[in-house]
Amino acid sequence: MNETYEFVVVANRLPVDEVVAADGSRSWARSPGGLVSALQPIVRGHGGAWVGWTGQPGDAPEPFDSDGMHLHPVGLSADDVDRYYEGQSNGTIWPLFHDAVEQPTHRRPWRQAYEAVNRRFAEAAAELAAPGGTVWVHDYQLMLVPAMLRERRPDLRIGFFLHIPFPPVELFMQLPRRAELLRGLLGADLVGFQRPLAAQNFLQLTGRLLGLDPQEDHVVHDGRTVTARAFPISIDVDEVEKLASDPGVQAEARRMRKELGGDRRLLLGVDRLDYTKGIEQRLEAYGELLADGTVSNDDVVLVQVATPSRMRVQEYQELRARVEREVGRINGEFGAVGQVPVHYLFQSMNREELVALYLAADVMVITPLRDGMNLVAKEYVAAREDDRGALVLSEFAGAAAELETAFLVNPHDVEDIKRALVDALNADPAEQAGRMRPMRAQVRGHDIDRWAQDFLGALAD
Ligand code: ADP
Ligand code: G6P
Repeated sequence: MNETYEFVVVANRLPVDEVVAADGSRSWARSPGGLVSALQPIVRGHGGAWVGWTGQPGDAPEPFDSDGMHLHPVGLSADDVDRYYEGQSNGTIWPLFHDAVEQPTHRRPWRQAYEAVNRRFAEAAAELAAPGGTVWVHDYQLMLVPAMLRERRPDLRIGFFLHIPFPPVELFMQLPRRAELLRGLLGADLVGFQRPLAAQNFLQLTGRLLGLDPQEDHVVHDGRTVTARAFPISIDVDEVEKLASDPGVQAEARRMRKELGGDRRLLLGVDRLDYTKGIEQRLEAYGELLADGTVSNDDVVLVQVATPSRMRVQEYQELRARVEREVGRINGEFGAVGQVPVHYLFQSMNREELVALYLAADVMVITPLRDGMNLVAKEYVAAREDDRGALVLSEFAGAAAELETAFLVNPHDVEDIKRALVDALNADPAEQAGRMRPMRAQVRGHDIDRWAQDFLGALAD
């Protein structure tokens, strides 16, 4: 009989991605995105198992142990990638759950593939979980898994956490087979969201679509109580602080600043290249400030790191083209030989480089049109033990509810972004410290361990 685990995480992605080089050789690299950043320390801490996809189409490799975790790959065929991952997950649910900032596409074959792949994840988890064990299912790609798993393994405790926003009732109502998704989630004992309003929307929908009788933070379904509450996710503060106080990382930060032009002040953007992140609005605001002479290429520089993401999806390709055109335009119009106003990096980075950038940045600019949480905001704050730097943060990021002393902006309003950038650039050290300290205290007091303990504690109850 196969080995089983008391604690099993199920997520679309494994914490490592299989990378296929040009010569066909294969290796593993850290997977992109906030979900993996957040969960890795927890699974490691539990010596648990992780069910997920390798990021490459094809048969699943054999399960293996890595870094204190048992990794159990689920295979996705090229068709599955096309329909379940790029289609239903990232062409339908992702845009719809982010306020439809891009138009969601609805296709029947995508929904069928989503259901079939969810079933495979549920089957894998059912095989791996020890009797009476705990299974924690994650995110919008796997919303049918809790019910499918419960059907196979009623002995388990099942938790579900949604890392992205849950939409307002009216938007959710647009989804074909919307009741199925709700029933899928109701297979869990505890459904967690980033924000209290999301939990309320979910509970309200169980009344409207399934005729249930939702109460303040729970609903009874099939004779079981399903609790729905907010558990705002966080970061591994110790990891970031350790990197931020590393002399090598600090030296790297000084080197970066020098390379970027001595005393030019540094604005920083770090995002997956995603249309929810407001990268275009940020560039537009910065371009206007350069055009109207409020800032100049001699005293300010923007570093925009854009991690490649979902590059086979058309909306992402189009976004990349628009962003790169705009960067080229700004550099062409306002740059000089040997000095440009935007440094654009379309690449992934290691943690040391990323934290060095956080330390080097005078202003961190985070302007998503909608974001479940935004861990980059919390990482920046945690890194600034020197109490310096300023955070410009969208009101539409989940993190804004906790980081109230940031320079908050409405990212749909370019004038407002411009105002916040100028205010942040002008903040003196006393104002920077006065804003940074309460934010750091908040993040330190609510780190990823506390998040996991809160969720798993509530699930165990
Ligand atoms: P999302 O989950 O939508 O990608 P988050 O801000 O919540 O956004 O999480 C992003 C995570 O990915 C953070 O932990 C951040 O440090 C990491 N990250 C972002 N950009 C890069 C990059 N270029 N290279 C490596 N890691 C990155
Ligand atoms: C967000 C989602 C995650 C996802 C990550 C990276 O953080 O909430 O579920 O894994 O983005 O996206 P990708 O499509 O590359 O997995």
